[in-house]
Amino acid sequence: MTFYVTTPIYYANSLPHLGHLYTMIVADTIARHKRQQGIETFFLTGTDEHGINIERAAERAGRTPKEQADYVVNYFKKMTAAFRLDTDHGGYDMFMRTSEPFHYEGVSELWRRAAKAKTPKGNDAIYKGHYEGWFCAACAAYKTEDEYAKPTEAGAAPTCLIHETPLDRISEESYFFRLSDYADALLALYESRPDFVQPESRNNEVTAFVRGGLQDLSVSRLKRSVSWGVPVPDDPDHTMYVWFDALTNYITAIGFGNEERERAVGFEKFWPALHLVGKDILRFHAVYWPAFLMAAGVEQPRAIVAHGMWVDPTGRKMSKTLGNTIDLDILGHHFPVDAIRYFVLREMVFGQDGRFGYEALIDRTNSDLASGLGNLSSRTLTMISRYAGGRVPSGVISEDKLLLAKRTGVDTDETTISGFIEHARDQFLQQLDAFAFSKALETAWSIVARVDKMISDAKPWELAKDENQKQTLNAVLYRAAETLRWLCALLYPVMPTAAQEIWTQLGLANSPGSPATPAGIDPAKMKWGELAEGTTIGEVKPLFPRIDKAKTMAEINDSVVQSATSNVQSPADARGAGDSPAMSVEREQGSGTHATEADAVAGAPISTETKPSPPMERATEADAVASAEGVTSFIDIADFTKVDLRVGEVLTAERIPKADKLLLLTVDIGEEKPRQILAGIAQYYEPEQLLGRKIAVVANLKPRKLRGYESQGMLLAASVGDEGKPVIATFTEEVPNGARLK
Ligand code: MSP
Repeated sequence: MTFYVTTPIYYANSLPHLGHLYTMIVADTIARHKRQQGIETFFLTGTDEHGINIERAAERAGRTPKEQADYVVNYFKKMTAAFRLDTDHGGYDMFMRTSEPFHYEGVSELWRRAAKAKTPKGNDAIYKGHYEGWFCAACAAYKTEDEYAKPTEAGAAPTCLIHETPLDRISEESYFFRLSDYADALLALYESRPDFVQPESRNNEVTAFVRGGLQDLSVSRLKRSVSWGVPVPDDPDHTMYVWFDALTNYITAIGFGNEERERAVGFEKFWPALHLVGKDILRFHAVYWPAFLMAAGVEQPRAIVAHGMWVDPTGRKMSKTLGNTIDLDILGHHFPVDAIRYFVLREMVFGQDGRFGYEALIDRTNSDLASGLGNLSSRTLTMISRYAGGRVPSGVISEDKLLLAKRTGVDTDETTISGFIEHARDQFLQQLDAFAFSKALETAWSIVARVDKMISDAKPWELAKDENQKQTLNAVLYRAAETLRWLCALLYPVMPTAAQEIWTQLGLANSPGSPATPAGIDPAKMKWGELAEGTTIGEVKPLFPRIDKAKTMAEINDSVVQSATSNVQSPADARGAGDSPAMSVEREQGSGTHATEADAVAGAPISTETKPSPPMERATEADAVASAEGVTSFIDIADFTKVDLRVGEVLTAERIPKADKLLLLTVDIGEEKPRQILAGIAQYYEPEQLLGRKIAVVANLKPRKLRGYESQGMLLAASVGDEGKPVIATFTEEVPNGARLK
């Protein structure tokens, strides 16, 4: 069994942006999911290199069109490597370029076949005629009346509704594809294969368009107008219309019309493909492409799957004029690849438009990844190392201990949790197969929440105090660890690096009987309990460090300003540590705008400098430990009311590497966002003990930085004995978060 997935090939006149990155991430996720199932998968991406637009961009840059394409391809390849989407990172299998000689051969073959064919109504599928119309170079498409804005001044050209640039009046001899004869055949195709165009709303849209009637399509330009393109076979005065050329890449890449490619990849082996596209180019894929294939007698694609567009947080289309585009360098500098992947798949309801904002990305990274998955992983593994000697314990509670275990409130029936997780797995896989990525991730996070709750309810740190409850404790630890293993397998296609990291920390990368990577596990075939007792866990490391929102936003805003104004060539790769996708791309001195649809020739340099965050009061770790002092003097009530004391609820708690006194808490004090608070209590409290606890917080203490983390408040604790042991102040009655203490 084989599977073939494609992204659109991107215009070689424009630098990669968030939209391209998104399509790549979706395709990469689908490909990894298929590979996990043991299906031989081919993932194709690449560049669309012909046409007037590229010719013009090259001219402006003083390059040949091929040099222009090489320049953009270089940039795309660096982007895909930086975001781990290339072959070296288990991503695409081939980067296709339409300037490749084998592509010329393949497209010419498709043209010849179509040119010989008759339409379903018995006419020649391709004929020579005369075309007169308005052409948008940026879209590389002729525009009908409803696709352009009429000029306001007499004699001026109409403008493209998408690009808002003047259209060119074209009047010349042209070959036509008799699309008008294919409407019925296309409608029959959509009807017989309801999954051919997905999601359903897009299917309806395409069907309505075809029902509205189809006009024949001009499929060539005179060479003297557009010379950079594939010559029409047997008529070198014409070059092929770029969409005929571009769409055909999906088959030429794998061997159509070229024996060498056929041997290297295999059209016979992999076709038909699943084409992943943005809704902006759905018509080309769901109407023109199937009609070309029908004419040439080639099998139809497996499916055309269209996603929505990214817009800014206020819902506006991203454009360089509005200055609301997302710079991939800035994105990659501040966020781990997996956080970006998770965010785009979780945030956009597939098929609809989605809003992209850095603040939302930070919030999701902190809540779902740092506090959610990351915290579950680190608390589970830390407890295994602390309470079970670093080895996954047995999950079995023997008959004679069942009653004892029951008394603690722990569910002795393991199938309660395994049943929940198996059900969630089935749902997750169904949703993933239906491209409902957002829902699938919600499902996966229901597992995170369920097991988090299991741990909090079972209170392993209490069980650990009672030797008789050893089996109960072990059962809880086993269930948590086995859940992590399942989560790795489920989440691998979405977050390959994080899933591998948890897998390694769980000790599975080197465990006999387990594949070295979650890439090697088919989640559909997983069985609960396959995690071997005795597996030695690896070193526990934080997965998703919490992002300091204020600081990061200030840095991003600075970078955006700098990248928009700077004109200095960027030094290669001065940024990006760890998992962040540092792109060492040299952009040219240019017009100072960042490219979304900007011409690559006008690409602005990337600024690598980010200003240091505003200085904060320096403090030491010891400052966070409450000091024991007697009451020395009196204050007025007015002084006391200066202190804003609030009730808070601990949402997350974790240790900080190399700071043995500090715990990093997030505390809900009734504000829109929880506070991050550092507390010097790590020697006296287990992080798990604090979860859900109501505490008293000094809310208007000036933020300060400890060990690189900002503390946005202080918790109150009694200081007991000579050593000043902290005992956290708490409430014995119900109190709402944010209630004031006075
Ligand atoms: N070259 C053609 C495609 C030919 S395929 C045979 C083309 N190229 S493009 O560079 O404009 O890239 C288009 C694709 O980029 C879209 O279909 C979509 O996949 C992606 N996106 C471009 N802008 C986008 C957003 N703002 N949001 C999401 N994806 C977008 O069209």
